[in-house]
Amino acid sequence: MEKKFFDKIIHGGDYNPDQWIDTPEIWDEDMRLMKLANINSATVGIFSWSMIEPEEGVYNFGWLDTMMDKMHENGISVILATPSGARPAWLSQKYPEVLRVEETGIRNEYGVRHNHCLTSPVYREKVRNINRILAERYKDHPALKMWHISNEYGGECHCEKCQEAYRDWLKEYYNNDIDALNRSWWNGFWSHRLNDWSQINSPKFRGENHVTAMKLTWNRFVSDSHISFYENEIAPLREITPDIPITTNLMRMYGGIDYQKFAKKLDLVSWDNYPGWDRGDNDWQAVETAFVHDTFRSMKNGQPFFMMESTPSQVNWHDINKLPRAEMQNLSSIQAVAHGADSVQYFQWRKGRGGHEKFHGAVVDHCGHENTRVFKGISKLGSVLSKLDKVVGKYSTAKVAVIYDWENSWAVKHFCGYNNLRRDYLQECIKWYKPFYERGITVDIIAMDADYSGYDLIIAPFLYMLKDKTADRIESYIASGGNFVASYLFAMVDKDDLCFLGGFPAGNLKEVFGVWNEETDALPADIKNKVSAFGKEYDVDHVCDIIHSTGATVLGTYQKDFYKGEPSLTCNSYGKGKAWYVAFRNDDDFADDFCRKLITEIDIKPDTGIITEKDVFVRKRGDTVFVMNFSDSDTGVLLDKEYTDIVNGVTLSGEVTLPVCSYLILE
Ligand code: GAL
Repeated sequence: MEKKFFDKIIHGGDYNPDQWIDTPEIWDEDMRLMKLANINSATVGIFSWSMIEPEEGVYNFGWLDTMMDKMHENGISVILATPSGARPAWLSQKYPEVLRVEETGIRNEYGVRHNHCLTSPVYREKVRNINRILAERYKDHPALKMWHISNEYGGECHCEKCQEAYRDWLKEYYNNDIDALNRSWWNGFWSHRLNDWSQINSPKFRGENHVTAMKLTWNRFVSDSHISFYENEIAPLREITPDIPITTNLMRMYGGIDYQKFAKKLDLVSWDNYPGWDRGDNDWQAVETAFVHDTFRSMKNGQPFFMMESTPSQVNWHDINKLPRAEMQNLSSIQAVAHGADSVQYFQWRKGRGGHEKFHGAVVDHCGHENTRVFKGISKLGSVLSKLDKVVGKYSTAKVAVIYDWENSWAVKHFCGYNNLRRDYLQECIKWYKPFYERGITVDIIAMDADYSGYDLIIAPFLYMLKDKTADRIESYIASGGNFVASYLFAMVDKDDLCFLGGFPAGNLKEVFGVWNEETDALPADIKNKVSAFGKEYDVDHVCDIIHSTGATVLGTYQKDFYKGEPSLTCNSYGKGKAWYVAFRNDDDFADDFCRKLITEIDIKPDTGIITEKDVFVRKRGDTVFVMNFSDSDTGVLLDKEYTDIVNGVTLSGEVTLPVCSYLILE
């Protein structure tokens, strides 16, 4: 499949010409340098509101007109940002309601960024206004190719307007029935029954904070508030520039917004990628980053995404900001493209002279010229990207999916019980993704309500909460021939965090999995149980369900404690498919051993026949194959047939040596 917004891989990033308004000669130098760095796009205006509207209703577009023209003349396409991520001082001063109120109930003062109320009608109106003016002004400008909405939406506001909006949201969610809310929140507990909506406030440290169902609704409300803020922002853009695609930059696996829901509203998904390379764990960073790329790729059914930000060298916000090797920076960018990114973009093009981010990596350093290690690395990468037109828009196909669900991540975070120290939902999902990534098998990362058809295998680690119909969907997937693996604490609560009655897992899933989970034991870090399976013993870390087989085949048993001999790993045939239950957590090699068996049994084929060593990953996108060496040494790779190395234009076959931090792009 294919879906294209551009004909080329976009290579560019955040560009702030408004910070250099007093030195316009630098603008011309930027154009020269961008071309030299093989940059073909710039994202402009992200934090420019105080420059374009210096006083209320007074607009200054001269500099932006000039820059749009210059970029067009130089073949650089513009991704134009709406400026709501930070507002001018006059706006907060005149309309204090636009400022965010923290959980303490205290309104923030003007400052920093992302400091706005999500509900304020004034702020929404001001944002719509400035966006309308931008769209009107540039709708016919040939450089304008995409909208970048605001910047990294996030956080929450507890002002009275947001409280009121939360109450309205709840009224709608509970059909105006406060008793439905009481039942759903189990409000008989601690005498919390409510008899009027006005008694509800946002969860707070010094107020209500133990009602988990309430916290879930707050998460949903905040997430929906961001989405409706976004819809307010884009209304004038859709009206005036209906053909210009819209995105906003998302933040890795940020929990404050349900990105899987948000993605449906975006024309394309984009995200900001800041792994901590070259600090001794590149292998793990590579797997984790791959997982995130695949999460974003899966959000729109495999549609390519943008890597909207990454650093050309070091960041400034780690405790210690290690410089990555240029090769590592290049490899990281190639990894994004291998996983479905149609862009490699940076924060930032040029380092500012002052401000909080003046020591953050940039393509152009304070020295101002091109003779730097970083500039040369970026320019080299740009020339590689320019050879990848064929990849643009291409999907990859997955037969395996791991369920990582934003709403489940909230539910898992909130409940109190079992092991309260170790939840690690995300890390658990990555653990189950890794064995496939290491074997060159593409995996989709999906929400629990995604379409299951088309997958040979679905793995649902720690899927504690089920949304409406999820149990039925899992059942019919398995009944019609699917293979489904669930791990511990599976299917315990419904979407409102109410426990399912009649034994876990929920309802008919007991029959589907052929197990009943009677109790769950939690283990302190220094106490381990053991599981015996496949002729091997595995440590049990932190949590174990004590399950009984009601028909499933027992593949593993506990070795210690009063539940010694009880099942810990089962498989049940149901309909045409199979359901596995992994009742325990193991932080070592169980997932790898088990997945190897699943791959053989289900006959899941890797995307290519290329054989690699540890920490060298293979990824196929369309007809293009990427081989990436994230190990810390030069490594041999065995090619299964003759390929063309499309970067160097040579033919390769047999054993090839891949130097540390290098990659091959083959066809
Ligand atoms: C991003 C942000 C950018 C810049 C960057 C620094 O999260 O969107 O504006 O601050 O971090 O790494």
